[in-house]
Amino acid sequence: MRARSPRDLSRPRYKASATADVNAVERAGEMHHPPSQRLVTDPFARHLVQSPVFRLLAASGPVARFSLRTFDRFYGGNHAHVTLRTHAHSEQVRLALADGIDQVVVLGAGYDSTAFRMDLGAATLFDVDTAPTQRAKQAAIARAGLKPTGAVVYVDCDFESQRPSTRLPEHGFDPSRRSLVVWLGVMYYLTEPAATQTLSELAALMAPGSRLLADYIDAAVIDGTTPHPGARRSFRSVKRRGEALRFGLTPETAERLLREHGFAVTDSLRLGDLAARYGPPDGVWCKLDDWFGTLVAERAAQA
Ligand SMILES: C[S@@+](CC[C@H](N)C(=O)[O-])C[C@H]1O[C@@H](n2cnc3c(N)ncnc32)[C@H](O)[C@@H]1O
Repeated sequence: MRARSPRDLSRPRYKASATADVNAVERAGEMHHPPSQRLVTDPFARHLVQSPVFRLLAASGPVARFSLRTFDRFYGGNHAHVTLRTHAHSEQVRLALADGIDQVVVLGAGYDSTAFRMDLGAATLFDVDTAPTQRAKQAAIARAGLKPTGAVVYVDCDFESQRPSTRLPEHGFDPSRRSLVVWLGVMYYLTEPAATQTLSELAALMAPGSRLLADYIDAAVIDGTTPHPGARRSFRSVKRRGEALRFGLTPETAERLLREHGFAVTDSLRLGDLAARYGPPDGVWCKLDDWFGTLVAERAAQA
């Protein structure tokens, strides 16, 4: 197990994730739009929101819509990406299950609601996050009396100091069988060594034919050269919450990184592509500032 550097240790691991809570309230707020304008339909998100202030914001239609528009004015691009990527997530889960994959891993799951909003059938969902976030999520699930549609296994794992390749098999994950790994909204919060180490771990865990859905943030957001004011504000705001954005890529370096770790990229989407593919009939109401990418990849056969 790798030791955490002093810089990593400054991150407050004893706290549940604040950024996961922001993502949950973004999904919850969308339920106050009519279906033809809704960027995502997640009726369970509101039960998983943690902060009492966020719960209030998500409770009333006018307040939720005003809050989302204010958020979007400051952090343009974030809301569209966070909500629309959920469609890619759902689509990959559906495709994997239809193809006989029966292990779905959501890495850095935060307050993701897949286990409630999708029919898992005979598949097992491995929900992986740090221990404080998992505790907060499980308490919210118990409070709301939510019942998963299938088998869910909670795996606490800190990617900076623990190995998914140990933690997942300890909880019943079978590396010899194919899997789908969803890794959304996480890679950019890790240090580069932890992100690449996690990818190596995934390569070891995922049988050939397994699939990976991951997203990345532009390297220009990390080095401060991004032209998008919303991205610059996000960088500063996330840092204040103690979950700094640390690792960025470009479409080219992201594809190369996955290739170097044994994954063949089958789809590379920018925010405009997500909007064109998954946007609602009335169009996307918020900004589409382009500073995120989303990749679908397949674990190549081992040489
Ligand atoms: C922005 S949230 C995204 C949550 C969720 N994937 C979503 O889309 O709503 C980032 C998530 O990554 C998790 N995360 C960040 N650093 C981590 C680490 N070192 N080990 C495990 N999880 C981590 C956080 O706890 C949080 O749940």
